[in-house]
Amino acid sequence: MAERAGSAAPGQAAVDLAGVSRRYGDVDAVADVSLRIEEGEFFSLLGPSGCGKSTTLRMIGGFEVPTSGEIRIRGVAMNSVPPHRRPTNMVFQQLGLFPHLTVFDNVAFGLRLAKVPRAEITRRVARQLEIVNLAGFERRYPDQLSGGQQQRVAIARALTNEPSVLLLDEPLGALDLRLRQKMQIELKEIQRRLNTTFIYVTHDQGEAFAMSDRIGIMNHGRLEQVDTPRAIYHRPATEFVADFVGETNLVRGKVTRRSGDTMIVAALGLEVPLVASSVSPGESVTLSIRPEHVRLSRIQRGAPGMVTIRGATFQGSFIHYALETPSGETISARVIDGDASDNLKPGDGADIQFAVEQVRIMG
Ligand SMILES: Nc1ncnc2c1ncn2[C@@H]1O[C@H](COP(=O)(O)OP(=O)(O)O)[C@@H](O)[C@H]1O
Ligand SMILES: [Mg+2]
Repeated sequence: MAERAGSAAPGQAAVDLAGVSRRYGDVDAVADVSLRIEEGEFFSLLGPSGCGKSTTLRMIGGFEVPTSGEIRIRGVAMNSVPPHRRPTNMVFQQLGLFPHLTVFDNVAFGLRLAKVPRAEITRRVARQLEIVNLAGFERRYPDQLSGGQQQRVAIARALTNEPSVLLLDEPLGALDLRLRQKMQIELKEIQRRLNTTFIYVTHDQGEAFAMSDRIGIMNHGRLEQVDTPRAIYHRPATEFVADFVGETNLVRGKVTRRSGDTMIVAALGLEVPLVASSVSPGESVTLSIRPEHVRLSRIQRGAPGMVTIRGATFQGSFIHYALETPSGETISARVIDGDASDNLKPGDGADIQFAVEQVRIMG
């Protein structure tokens, strides 16, 4: 049974990582990560495979020891505290349900080990099954449940000792897309109801966006940005984040002049306007332009366009265009189906505009 690390004090972080690193031989699995996760937050670590998400989570849970740096939970230093004495619990992709035990017995397992009195076990198991919407399933065996239901049993089991932080490592990875999306909504709802801090690891940005209050983006062991999903999408701090989250056009250019409140950048053989006070004429910059912020307009047949359509693919709610720019570079544009420019064909010319406030300059 995990010990309480005291109750949450006002203004105290649920989890605090200060300069945490983990080396394996000459691999920096996690490199100098500092991070503060608030009480009751749904926080996700997002990044490509191998970027250090699981290692970070395992260090918070105590399954892995930092090479350097410090981890605190509710203000208490955790580095030398073993997993079962931390106020955390972990849910893995491999659920580890016992096939020969009923749902009730699976959820009650840890409580029995901890010699919790029988009546208390019955009460706590009932409460957790209620929370994960599985009341009435007590006597079923895991193979009599759907993948999503099994997932919820694993979550109920991890919640029985009322951890102050629940750690989840790609717990929905084995489910098909529809079920995964349904479970994302349910998980967020469970977290909201419990008001427990959840730290969720995933390589799937849709998943992180759907559930998280804040997201930490990791790359090669480092935290690149910590922000709300919207801020990460609209104000990516680095080229990596801009590229990893959603689709973007990363474009090199040179600031040519100021025009009122906007700076004009020569890029793609075009003039691209952006709002930025931090650059001056002559500077080289990298811009991030989301495909949905490229505005296309049809031009008279035969008239020269600024760009040429090279590819057009119907994606359901939008059309994806590959555009050849005057510099010969190709960029992506995304146009809502039903828009005036939704039926451009390869070979057509088009006029192009950029939404000034949406063009981002990358550090
Ligand atoms: N026990 C280990 N021994 C050696 N290398 C490891 C070990 N665990 C993880 N790594 C390495 O550390 C890096 C980060 O791994 P991990 O945290 O599992 O990434 P993620 O969960 O983001 O996919 C990878 O390069 C991985 O190969
Ligand atoms: Mg992992």
